[in-house]
Amino acid sequence: MNEKAIPVLTIDGPSGSGKGTVAARVAEELGWHVLDSGALYRLTGLAARKAGVDFADHAAVAAIARNLPARFEGGRVFLGDEEVTLEIRSETAGNDASKVAAIPEVRAALLDWQRGYAKPPGLVADGRDMGTVVFPEAQVKIFLDASAGERARRRYKQLKDKGIDVNLTGLIAEIEERDRRDRNRSVAPLAPADDALRIDSTSMNIDEVVNLVLQAVSRAGSGQAGGNG
Ligand code: C5P
Repeated sequence: MNEKAIPVLTIDGPSGSGKGTVAARVAEELGWHVLDSGALYRLTGLAARKAGVDFADHAAVAAIARNLPARFEGGRVFLGDEEVTLEIRSETAGNDASKVAAIPEVRAALLDWQRGYAKPPGLVADGRDMGTVVFPEAQVKIFLDASAGERARRRYKQLKDKGIDVNLTGLIAEIEERDRRDRNRSVAPLAPADDALRIDSTSMNIDEVVNLVLQAVSRAGSGQAGGNG
């Protein structure tokens, strides 16, 4: 099948904007695959840290990204034989991810892997550069944002619900620092694609955002993958 015929919906935005939840819900509604690209950067950071690799050694971190022994099974994530489902969700893992994500060789190493997720009947890809770099020809692109305070509050609740202990003030500072690094890096910075639909979810609930995204998909005519209506 021609790759371009596979419908792709990209959802980019800063941390805590709700991308992951919205991507999962929309993919379920459409019956499409999901790519959580942030997990690949989190796994790379974690694997580098476990191997004692210095993040300043770009070639060594890129080698880790190229040979990442990662497996996704249902909602569980493994690095080799070790389950790291919870560990990759910690704020340390998020910060490490954003450091290794600024290394161009790491981004290059993960590119083909990410593109390989585009399979019938369709893909919902969530990240920072899905619409700008990884899937520039995606039929529908969303840029999901929310105020920094609201994003920190959501992240706080999400982590607490998972039993991860966090402090809200520290979380706001970490989110702001991570945003700054993601927006200002020289390669694939966090930015909306020119043709992205921007949604500010600060005062919206998840259902409202999911509905807006599904409407955008159906407007683009890619909601009925492989069919005529
Ligand atoms: O989305 P998530 O918070 O899991 O991403 C963790 C980090 O990985 C981000 O802060 C960002 O630096 C990096 N990332 C990226 N490009 C993506 C997805 C994530 O640079 N497509």
